[in-house]
Amino acid sequence: MGYNVAVLGATGAVGHEIITILEERNFPIENIYALASKRSVGKEVSFGDKVLKVEDVEKFDFSSVDIALFSAGSDVSEKWAPIAGDKGCIVIDNTSYFRMDPDVPLIIPEVNPEALEGYRNKNIIATPNCSTIQMLVPLKPLHDLAIIKRIVVSTYQSVSGAGKSAMDELWDQTRKMFFNESGTTGTNEAVTDRASNFSKRIAFNVIPQIDKFIDDGSTKEEVKIVNETKKILDASIEVSATCVRVPVFIGHAESVNIEFENNVNIDEVREILGDTDGVSLVDNIETETYITPIECVSDFSVFVSRLRVDHTVPSGINMWVVSDNLRKGAALNSVQIAEELINRKYI
Ligand code: A2P
Repeated sequence: MGYNVAVLGATGAVGHEIITILEERNFPIENIYALASKRSVGKEVSFGDKVLKVEDVEKFDFSSVDIALFSAGSDVSEKWAPIAGDKGCIVIDNTSYFRMDPDVPLIIPEVNPEALEGYRNKNIIATPNCSTIQMLVPLKPLHDLAIIKRIVVSTYQSVSGAGKSAMDELWDQTRKMFFNESGTTGTNEAVTDRASNFSKRIAFNVIPQIDKFIDDGSTKEEVKIVNETKKILDASIEVSATCVRVPVFIGHAESVNIEFENNVNIDEVREILGDTDGVSLVDNIETETYITPIECVSDFSVFVSRLRVDHTVPSGINMWVVSDNLRKGAALNSVQIAEELINRKYI
């Protein structure tokens, strides 16, 4: 006995991971449907030892599925999530479109599973931004311990967060650099011969812009981390974020500075993080052990390294947080939400 599940955006980077993770975690599936635009009709995606033919979302009847996992961009979610929800299908949406809607729960299963019940308002549940997810999984038990007052975070985000064509762009630019082909050698050259995902060259560079700028000089990605932290963890936490794109294919890293209301003991923090579901503490200065993005690829954990006291404030710590943005930052979090719906007998 299983559930009927649709994956919208099945040909994309996150959609591919969702289908892989559903299979890896033995999600109870009766039927699974791979959906994308009509451009992809007839393409095939693997689900374990089966092959799924990609179908056009425009022709799909959402009343035939219990759950739909969406990762096809905000415009697609804006249009199709309400249609699917009205037909009784529960939508788990990976885009930013519904995240700040007060009638839509924004869920990280390890952090605020109790908010899941709000799905009943619209039959839509939102998955937070990848950077918010990996930051809040280790911060939740520390907020319970000593009340977080302020967070200052700088992100080092991989190109896969911008989708498959962004990964292709990093690959193409890097290859052209090595073969000394035109279009990529200038210090500030944007791109080559096709549409660009980034405002500047990403190969051998870092770009302090993710998403569009708003009036105060922040980017929308930075605002997402601020607002989503308040919605998920605590509205009184102040967050200052700087988001940077780096030439890494998969795996986001974050340098996180946390200031607490109450005193914290670094050994206690270490002990708590060592016992937190979803967190792997990999941190040893004697052996110079810490995690980098390439080591987190395909893993389900949020890794914490470089844990240390911030001596410049009465009660503060610094940490380095790394996770596979396509997994815990997106696909895994969505699948865990679906699992939680089953655990709580909502479906
Ligand atoms: P398609 O390949 O048919 O365009 P990524 O984020 O890796 O770029 O992937 C985006 C995913 O969203 C792809 O599966 C893509 O399918 C899908 N998608 C994009 N636009 C639409 C649309 N208008 N309708 C349905 N799926 C879409």
